[in-house]
Amino acid sequence: MKGVILAGGLGTRLYPLTKITNKHLLPVYDRPMIFYPLYTLVEAGIKEVLLVTGGNFAGEFLRLLGDGRKLGLDLLAYAYQEKERGIADALWLAKDFVQDDTVVVILGDNILDGSIKRFVQSYRKGRAKILLKEVDNPSEYGVPRFEADRIVEIVEKPANPPSRYAVMGVYIYPATVFEIIAGLKPSSRGELEISDVNDRYAKEGLLDYEIWDGWWGDAGSSIASYWEVNKYVERRKRDDPTAWELPEFVTYFEDLRNNSG
Ligand code: DAU
Repeated sequence: MKGVILAGGLGTRLYPLTKITNKHLLPVYDRPMIFYPLYTLVEAGIKEVLLVTGGNFAGEFLRLLGDGRKLGLDLLAYAYQEKERGIADALWLAKDFVQDDTVVVILGDNILDGSIKRFVQSYRKGRAKILLKEVDNPSEYGVPRFEADRIVEIVEKPANPPSRYAVMGVYIYPATVFEIIAGLKPSSRGELEISDVNDRYAKEGLLDYEIWDGWWGDAGSSIASYWEVNKYVERRKRDDPTAWELPEFVTYFEDLRNNSG
């Protein structure tokens, strides 16, 4: 199973913070944002990851993360998205990396408190799988429509949401995802939408889901959500300093502080 972190885009919703760096390198409590989705994949046992980035500061990821081996990975590869053409467009760049394998995709601004191990281990081959969270403001997310307990449709940022659930930025796909992306048309906002991909699987009866019972934050959608995530992570780390921590991360950060990293 391969992992992909999507960290492209200009992050204009967080201007001026993102005028001088990539959104996913902004601090969340004591480390750059990118370490949280990276933690989520590595903790779930994923050893080969592709990071898709873009914009003016792509080189900074290489300086920070290198080849990933100090961070618990066997391989960290990079891809560059020329233009912010959507999440599905960014995922398209992982086609050669994934080949015939299954891929766990995480958005670089999604912060999850807890492990996705169970979600990954119970994945059924050949199908797609998403995580859902009940929210007060579903119109700001991808939203599922249910018939009984089956998802029959996914709609992106609907004015009249068909349920109270948000589709989180964590997805598992078989390699058929690339055939679906190849056939996508840009949405009204000019992007290849990941919700259109999920909708396809839903309509083919191939979309599984789990409800996430832990805390989840989208750190990238506004300054308010960025700070909400920071405040949550600070409180959480004060209660439990081992949260989002891996032995490899501890050693890497210590090496950096001692100037030998
Ligand atoms: O956070 C969950 C939500 O993420 C889902 O519920 C939505 O269905 C999904 O569309 C997405 O919505 P956002 O409006 O939050 O997406 P955003 O444009 O902020 O992009 C999320 C991440 O995806 C971003 O941190 C970097 C990556 N990305 C995005 C675009 C548009 C890319 O790598 N390239 C892109 O072109």
